[in-house]
Amino acid sequence: MRLVITGGAGFLGTRLARKLLERGTLVDAAGNARSLRRLVLLDVVAATVIDPRVTAIAGDLADPAVIERVVTADTDSVFHLAAVVSGHAEAEFDTGMRVNLDATRALLERCRKLDRPPKFVFTSSLAVFGGQLPDPVLDDAPLTPQTSYGAQKAIGELLVYDMTRKGYIDGRSLRLPTVTVRPGKPNKAASSFASGIIREPLSGIDAVCPVAPETQLWVTSPRRVIDNLIVGHDVAPAKFCQTRSVNVPGLRVSVEEMVSALRRVAGDAVAARVKWQIDPVIDKIVRTWPANFAPRLGPALGMNGDSDFGTIIDDYMQEMAT
Ligand SMILES: NC(=O)c1ccc[n+]([C@@H]2O[C@H](COP(=O)([O-])OP(=O)(O)OC[C@H]3O[C@@H](n4cnc5c(N)ncnc54)[C@H](O)[C@@H]3O)[C@@H](O)[C@H]2O)c1
Repeated sequence: MRLVITGGAGFLGTRLARKLLERGTLVDAAGNARSLRRLVLLDVVAATVIDPRVTAIAGDLADPAVIERVVTADTDSVFHLAAVVSGHAEAEFDTGMRVNLDATRALLERCRKLDRPPKFVFTSSLAVFGGQLPDPVLDDAPLTPQTSYGAQKAIGELLVYDMTRKGYIDGRSLRLPTVTVRPGKPNKAASSFASGIIREPLSGIDAVCPVAPETQLWVTSPRRVIDNLIVGHDVAPAKFCQTRSVNVPGLRVSVEEMVSALRRVAGDAVAARVKWQIDPVIDKIVRTWPANFAPRLGPALGMNGDSDFGTIIDDYMQEMAT
C-alpha cells in the first residue's frame, strides 16, 4: 500500500508514522490486509522518521503542485493531519482558512480524481461542538463550533462525508479529544496548557494554568489516539451510521484532577509548580468545548479511551525515560 500522512512531521503525524511502520499492514478500501510499501510524510518542516519505506516531502499543502506530487495515482490511503491549531487559527483567520479549509478541499479534490477512491482519514476535533449542548454530548449532537478552527474542522467533515456519499473517497472524520501529554515546547493550541501543566513541572519548571481548576476537559493519551486513528482507517464502511464522523472516546477530567494525579505520581513539590492565572482569551475558547461525551459509535468500532489520568502521566514519564 502507498500511504500519505499530511502533517507527517507533527506531534501525532510522527507517532502515527512510527506505529504504521511497526505494524506493517493496514486494511485497504477493498477490505484486504495489505503490507505497507511506501509511507509519504508531507509537512512544511522536515519529518524525522527514518525507514526505507518512508519518503519525506517538505512542502506547503496549500500549494496544488505539492498536492500533485504527494497524492499520486497509486495512493491507497491519506491520513490528513496537517492543520494550524486552535489558538493559531483564531489569531490568524486567513491562515486558518488557507490551511484548515482551502488545503483540505484541494486535497480532497485531488483524491477525488484518482481512479480508485482512496481511504481518507480526517483528524477533526471536539471543537466542532460548543455552546449549549446536550449533556452528555451524544454522537449525533449538532455541529455548533464557537471558534474559527472548529468551524473549519466542521466544514471539512461535511466535505469528507459528501465526497464519500458520492463515491469519490472512502472518508472517515475522527473528532479527537485533547491529546495530552505532548512532549516538547508549548504550541499555539488553546489546549496547550493541558500538556504544559504536567510536562513543565515534571521537568522542574513552573507552569501557568490559564483556566480555573474546576474546568473540565475531554482528553486522550497519544498512545490511545494513535490506536484509534488506525481503527478508524481499517474499519469497514458498513460499520458507520448515517455520516462518517466519529466522536473518538476519551476521558473526562477536571484540571484540578489532572494536578492531583500529578501530585500522586510525582509528589507535592512537583504539583506545586502549577501556578493558577486565568488568561481570558484561552479561558474563553476552552469554555466553549464540551467535556462530557457519551460516545457509542467509536467504542462499537473498536476504539478505546484511557481509564485514568495517572496512567497517562505514567505513560509520558516512561516515554521520556527511554
Ligand atoms: N493534539 C491535539 O490535542 C488534537 C486534538 C484534536 C484534533 N487534533 C488534530 O490532529 C491533527 C494533528 O495534530 P497535532 O497535535 O499533531 O498538531 P501539530 O501542530 O503537531 O501537527 C500538525 C502538522 O501540520 C503541519 N502543517 C501545518 N500547515 C501545513 C501546511 N500548509 N502544509 C503542510 N503541513 C502543514 C505542521 O508543520 C505540523 O507539523 C491536526 O489536524 C489537529 O487539528 C489534534
